[in-house]
This record gives sequence, structure tokens and C-alpha cells, in this order.
Amino acid sequence: MVHPLDDFDLIKRFDTNEMLKVIESFPEMSLDALKTVETYNLKIDKKDFRNVVIAGMGGSAIGGVLLRDWLQPTCHTPIIISKQYKLPSYVNENTLLLAVSYSGNTEETLSALNEAKIKQSSIIVFTSGGKMASYAEHEGIPCVKLPGGFQPRAAIPYQFFSLAAIARKIGLVDGAWSEVDESVNLLSTLRSEMKLESPYASNLAKQIAFQIKGYIPFIYGSSIHEGVAYRWNTQINENSKIPAGSSSFPEAFHNAVMASEADSELLKNACAIFLIDPYEQKETAAKIQVFHEIMSRRFGRLIEIHARGNDRLSRIMSALYIGDFVSTYLGLLYGRNPSSIDSINELKRTQVK
Ligand code: F6R
Repeated sequence: MVHPLDDFDLIKRFDTNEMLKVIESFPEMSLDALKTVETYNLKIDKKDFRNVVIAGMGGSAIGGVLLRDWLQPTCHTPIIISKQYKLPSYVNENTLLLAVSYSGNTEETLSALNEAKIKQSSIIVFTSGGKMASYAEHEGIPCVKLPGGFQPRAAIPYQFFSLAAIARKIGLVDGAWSEVDESVNLLSTLRSEMKLESPYASNLAKQIAFQIKGYIPFIYGSSIHEGVAYRWNTQINENSKIPAGSSSFPEAFHNAVMASEADSELLKNACAIFLIDPYEQKETAAKIQVFHEIMSRRFGRLIEIHARGNDRLSRIMSALYIGDFVSTYLGLLYGRNPSSIDSINELKRTQVK
């Protein structure tokens, strides 16, 4: 019998907006973003910003989160993610504000952009169009134009690699840039292993999705995968249409572990997913083992995912890419269209008069 995830007709019936195809294009989208930003001559001088604030919501915030996680050990300028209408009070003329909204119409991000303009921050926007592109044109703000036609969360290669390439142009990346090629090559290798044509028997993402079905997933990421664990969480919410939770180490030792003491009936349906990094620092690695043991006594299911690659960026991108595939296959297993966002749209229509 054909496995449901190897049944192309069934997949086609639910994946009507071709989320899988878009995810399969991740490596090409990444290269395209890098090439495009290379040709930009943005009117932002390399200068000593006191901080870099990346404003965005949902799928448009995650690129900034990944940039922060990637550059954390090497970048001396604070990179802060703001997911609010209002910007932190320290934002001023010494701030570089990177405003990211794929649609260009997200009200929280537009509000933050407007505030940054008033505070005379240096600004670059990242968008495929909408009000943000018009505002940038009108105000003479540099704009990185992202190609349209995707779900914002699926445009992550454009969002992340555009941000990364701009960060490099303004001097935030330095030596870490050498990690970019390896990460894109690794994405291509992973794509071959996890794409739809790759059968269930040898497809890690299909197998994990199948194991998670029927459970509420809780994702626990190694220290460098804080943003990736959250990305798994939100991709499972949006692509699979199911609840999920996430945390990262060592923080999870101080709270999430207590969930192991919940009622057994409740925990029968909980699945702990560990995003393990091969270079976790040794104190944390030792405690992860104990955490794993405690959770395994009570949680209905436990799954370990191992980040691949050597460089920090490859490990971040590989752990993320596996999650993008898993969440899409999981949605399809539930008979859902991974691209649909009806409830998000319902909320976006809510306007305060
Ligand atoms: C939809 C998605 C959402 C959006 C968010 C903000 O695919 O991922 O989380 O990213 O609603 O919208 P944009 O990205 O257009 O600013």
C-alpha cells in the first residue's frame, strides 16, 4: 500500500497553493535574495549604529530572529527584534531600524516604521509592496523589494538572506559571511532528502510528521536554536493547523520541565521534540540528557532532531528547514491546506475605529 505522504494525488488535493513546491525552492530563493541585494546601492552609510532594531510580525519577524541568533557570538552591535506597534524607548537617531513586512500592509509594522521616521532613525524596509513600499517611496526610504506571490512565512529565504546581505553591507557580519555558501549547499542536500518525490521509507520529514500526528508537539531547542524552536512552533500552528509550544535550553530547565508532572491522561497526547545541536556547550548538554530522561518518563512521545552542518548558520538553517517540511507534511496528513490563513485574516480585518 502507498503511504499517504507518497500519494501524489492526495497531496495535490490538499496542497492547492503548492506550499511544498515553495519549500522545495528554498535554496534557489536564498541564492536569488543574495544576488539581488548584491546589486543594491542603498543610501545607508556604514556607520556606527548604537543598535539595530528589526520590526516585523509573524513570518516577517523570523528572519530577524535568525539573524540575531546567527550573529550573537560575533556581532558587537545589539540586534533587537520588536513585535509591537510601539518601538522600545531607546530607539533614536543612532538606531538602524529594519522594518520587515512581506505584504507591506501589517499595521503593527507600519506603526513602528512611522515612529522610527519621527525619531529620525536610519531606516531600510523589506517588503513585496503594499503600503510599506508606497510609504518608503514617498519618504525616500531605501527599500529591499521582495518578490511577491508567496505566503509571508514561506518567503523566509528571501527575508533572512536579504537581511543578512544588508547586515553584511553595513558591517555587522564580518567573518561569519563565509558560512553562507555551506548553508545553502546543505539546504540543497536536505531538499533532496525531504522533497515530495523522496519516498517515506527514506524521508526524515515525512517520518517525523507521521510520528507527530495525533499529538500536541512541544519543541525544545538547543541554545542556538531558540528562534528555530519558535519557528517550528509557528509553522506547526500555521501549516499544520494545530496547537504547539516551544522553549529552548537552558531556559527550559527552569520552567518547561515542570510540565512532566502533569496528569498522565493529558501527557499521553503530548510529544516532546528536541532540536539537538552537535556543538551544545557541555554544561547545557549534560542537563539536556537529564531533561530528556525526565520528559521521557511521562510524555506520550519523544523525538530527537539533530541539526546538521558545522558552521553556526548551517546548523540553524538545517534545523529550520526540517521543521518547514515536517509542518507541511503534518498539515497534509490532517487533510489541511498548509497555505491557508483564514483565522489570521479574520484578525487582520479587525480595526479599531
Ligand atoms: C502568513 C504569516 C503571518 C504573517 C504576519 C505578518 O504566512 O506567516 O505570520 O507573516 O501576519 O504579515 P506580513 O508578513 O505580511 O507583514
